Amino acid sequence: MIILGFESSCDETGVALVCTERGLLSHALHTQVAMHASYGGVVPELASRDHIRRVVPLTRSVLDQAGLTLADIGAVAYTAGPGLAGALLVGASVAQSVAWSLGLAAIPIHHLEGHLLSPRLADPCPEFPFVALLVSGGHTQLMRVDEVGQYALLGETLDDAAGEAFDKTAKLLGLGYPGGPALAQLAEQGDHRAFDLPRPMLHSQNLDFSFSGLKTAVLTRLRDALSQPVPSASLKQDLAAATQAAIVDVLVAKSIAALKQTGLRRLVVAGGVGANRRLREQLAGRMRPLRGEAFFPPLALCTDNGAMIAFAAAQRVSRGLADLSPGAHGFNVYPRWDLAQI
Ligand code: KG4
Ligand code: ZN
Repeated sequence: MIILGFESSCDETGVALVCTERGLLSHALHTQVAMHASYGGVVPELASRDHIRRVVPLTRSVLDQAGLTLADIGAVAYTAGPGLAGALLVGASVAQSVAWSLGLAAIPIHHLEGHLLSPRLADPCPEFPFVALLVSGGHTQLMRVDEVGQYALLGETLDDAAGEAFDKTAKLLGLGYPGGPALAQLAEQGDHRAFDLPRPMLHSQNLDFSFSGLKTAVLTRLRDALSQPVPSASLKQDLAAATQAAIVDVLVAKSIAALKQTGLRRLVVAGGVGANRRLREQLAGRMRPLRGEAFFPPLALCTDNGAMIAFAAAQRVSRGLADLSPGAHGFNVYPRWDLAQI
């Protein structure tokens, strides 16, 4: 069965076609980064309006790429939450309208379920069960995943998400929005040992995180350094590298602790921060002696996209976990939605 999926929870409009037998057929994405950049962050009303503008051309594009028409679709899927209410409503309305007009079901998908199953789009595909590290702009969670739909929360951030820590520090360093990728790029030229930043909750006896103190520590170091008669020429590079190293150290240590606690060997990393090169390298290095394996989504599918939503629906459909009768799921979006509750 072919599933048409829509993602519109934040600042990316994503549409994709996934076949339950053949996998990903096509996907198309429009990112609103340039539009929001001058405001220093996502403006929800602008995001909603832009999703409306983009969603139909992107849908045409995925059908053209795959050489298919709407008549070939067997079900529609959309991100029902969590996310910005207005932005979610655009994807939900379009998905429900397409489904209604074709007499199909519109399957609501949890955005984080999309992220955590997306590494299964890659080759090799991680088998269940595994530990998932979800690291996005809004979430930092460790989950135990036993099967599609069976998710248990092991630990999460008590305040800022890892992506938020990247973004806020980047803003302090004047790197603009969204700062994560820019900070990671700048960090490549810096020495992470030049600043000794805190590793929050590294030695706590649980799997929770806290990143909100990090930006204050960076701000203090930045002010101190700038008050010196001759600030180091590589100040920003070094601070970027030290921040990245601090965030990555905590993410890696807690992921390893989660594997030890659950006795599992497979770690799946998903969400925008999963694109971070240092995180990928450090995790791969720490997994080797444990004879564990780390899995990542294809780089292009780390950040928000429609493929992960259509793919999550496909996996639900393949296991009989999605009601395919038209109108079965009603019409709703959930701006706040706990993954462990689905
Ligand atoms: O999953 P995602 O696209 O959107 C949310 O659902 O939040 O994640 C976006 C987050 C942003 O905070 C962004 O700065 C971060 O992922 N990010 C990165 C990198 N690429 C994206 N952080 C660190 N290194 C990267 N290479
Ligand atoms: Zn996301």
